[in-house]
Amino acid sequence: MLIAPSWGGMLNGLLTLRGVWDKVREDAILKFLVVGVTAYGMATFEGPMLSLKDINAIAHFTDWVVAHAHTGALGWNGFITFAMFYWMIPRMYNTTIYSKKLMNIHFWIGTLGILFYVIPMYWSGFTQGLMWKEFTAEGVLKYPNFLQTTQEILPLHIIRAFGGLLYLSGVFIMVYNLWKTALQGRFIANEAAEAPALAKIYIPSPEKYAWHRWIERKPVQMLIGSLVVILIGSIIELVPTFSIRSNVPTIASVKPYTPLELEGRDLYIREGCNNCHSQMVRPFRSETERYGGEYSKAGEFVYDHPFLWGSKRTGPDLHRLGGKYPNSWHYTHMLDPQSMAPGSIMPAYPWLFENKINFVAVEEKIKAMQKLGVPYIFFGIAALLILK
Ligand code: HEC
Repeated sequence: MLIAPSWGGMLNGLLTLRGVWDKVREDAILKFLVVGVTAYGMATFEGPMLSLKDINAIAHFTDWVVAHAHTGALGWNGFITFAMFYWMIPRMYNTTIYSKKLMNIHFWIGTLGILFYVIPMYWSGFTQGLMWKEFTAEGVLKYPNFLQTTQEILPLHIIRAFGGLLYLSGVFIMVYNLWKTALQGRFIANEAAEAPALAKIYIPSPEKYAWHRWIERKPVQMLIGSLVVILIGSIIELVPTFSIRSNVPTIASVKPYTPLELEGRDLYIREGCNNCHSQMVRPFRSETERYGGEYSKAGEFVYDHPFLWGSKRTGPDLHRLGGKYPNSWHYTHMLDPQSMAPGSIMPAYPWLFENKINFVAVEEKIKAMQKLGVPYIFFGIAALLILK
């Protein structure tokens, strides 16, 4: 179902060019459009693919997601935006584009940038995903040291950075070109009044309007209309989840966080640990074997606001880490990760050893948690008293 509207958009875009494909060769704006719409088709094809467990097992938590998101962001959002700028700015200034050549250079540099960005990331995603899962013939993990899987993909990240740089240079070329375009033209402040003089602008006569023009040509109407449609879908999904208590699986031994743990979670967010670490062991043998013990259950997260499952593993999952190492290990690791894990790319956090935690807000934090349904009663107050 998800795929239908997105592919509808893509096919609509590509089929609009039926019969005029030769124009794409000459018009850089159309080139941007074609690559943009194609990237859109790819990105939205991958989304539903993730619902297949075998694909999700490899893609989730790896660079696959990064590749996917950037096909969308750089290819679709970026290129369609560039096309719009190149189309609009000359018309806003009643002139033609300053340099067609620069526009073409931008197109090629941008397209290469996307390729140098997303191909290494897909490669990296599959490499990482497959390495995590690989067992030897004896039935043990082939790469038990997580760091090996991170080091394997580092060269791909360097190529990706190069791709990003290419893409960004293209943007600067565009800005220069549009700036020069604006300078050589004259800004049309009141388009409606000057319209008759601007024969270049195509304004269809009202009788040619199709019935759906009334919404397509009015941004506010379009916005409200699409919002209503999205809200209907969201409400149908959300209301049953929130209104049926038994939908929230609780586990008796799972207790709300202590104030110190709450502060710890905030620190974890502040320092960006969740950009590199996940806290969700998935129900696969390769994961329970690697991280030890049970896979993560939904009921373990009922007091997490926000949850910290993470979206990508540059470092290992931390959900089952408690008790794996003595405290002294963590102490040293935080100060100098490379001393405990040679070749680690985790940054050091020396300031954590000097800065004091400020407990002023902890009472408010607990109140906020209570508002979100976390059952702090005497427990919270008692813990607060201990802390003060
Ligand atoms: C740039 C990515 C990155 C960031 C940010 C990061 N880590 Fe790591 N972390 C790693 C990598 C890679 C490893 C594996 C190598 C190692 O042990 O140093 C790791 C390992 C760990 C381990 C040991 C896990 C194990 O099973 O051996 C802990 C604990 C840890 N990190 C905690 C943190 C905390 C807490 C923060 C935030 C303050 C943090 N990390 C931020 C990348 C990162």
